[in-house]
Amino acid sequence: MKTALITGANRGIGYEVARLLVGEGFQVFIGARNANAGRKAADQVAKKGGKATFLEIDVADNASVAAAAREFSKAVDHLDVLVNNAGIIVDGDEGILKISDELLRKTLETNALGALSVTRAFVPVLRKSKAARVINVSSGGGQLTGGVDGWSPAYCISKTALNGVTSQFAAALPNFAVNSVCPGWVRTDMGGQGAARSVEEGANTIVWLATDAPQKLTGKFLRDRKEIPW
Ligand SMILES: NC(=O)c1ccc[n+]([C@@H]2O[C@H](COP(=O)([O-])OP(=O)(O)OC[C@H]3O[C@@H](n4cnc5c(N)ncnc54)[C@H](OP(=O)(O)O)[C@@H]3O)[C@@H](O)[C@H]2O)c1
Repeated sequence: MKTALITGANRGIGYEVARLLVGEGFQVFIGARNANAGRKAADQVAKKGGKATFLEIDVADNASVAAAAREFSKAVDHLDVLVNNAGIIVDGDEGILKISDELLRKTLETNALGALSVTRAFVPVLRKSKAARVINVSSGGGQLTGGVDGWSPAYCISKTALNGVTSQFAAALPNFAVNSVCPGWVRTDMGGQGAARSVEEGANTIVWLATDAPQKLTGKFLRDRKEIPW
């Protein structure tokens, strides 16, 4: 049975990806830092038929990431798909000159370094897959092509850094498919109810990268199943 781990899967896009991958026959691990929310999400996903297991993981805490990798290895011997989805946006329109060091550090630790440390911790089980895939949920806000317009700079810098993380792992792990994806502007707690896309639309390219995309597609940034500039 194919296995997938999605971080931040207790709500939003991560939950939707988990739900859809269970529908594709995956054994899904619902990564969440909040045990109650994670268990509830796993129960809900499993209720519709399929295998969903809660895995406690705070991506910004190295000890939690290491413990999660140990717990995962007790349950199964390989990981086919890792979706680094957990993310935060804590800055608004204050601008780069005003945001605090603490806010910047917290955002980078979660959105960029979190994905980096989770990927490193799970590489041993990913190597046991016949076709390992790592999907980093990034944002168009991290794109440098065309210039930036200054909204939520900590968030956007963290997604630019996450795209760097994607490129580095794609180079280091040539047999893996490692890609960044922008889900578009999605109706979640983060995106707000005025956003253009449903969670299902936001999850679409992530699920495609987890299932049907060619294994040789790696080191790219995608939206709507198409490559976009960094
Ligand atoms: N929504 C959009 O329009 C949009 C656009 C572009 C990119 N994205 C990206 O898509 C991803 C998912 O976003 P979303 O819209 O689904 O956001 P969301 O509804 O706010 O969900 C974020 C998820 O990340 C989890 N999380 C945050 N920090 C974590 C940590 N340290 N460890 C583990 N889990 C953590 C949250 O857990 P808690 O419940 O415990 O807080 C929650 O499950 C993010 O990476 C985001 O940047 C979203």
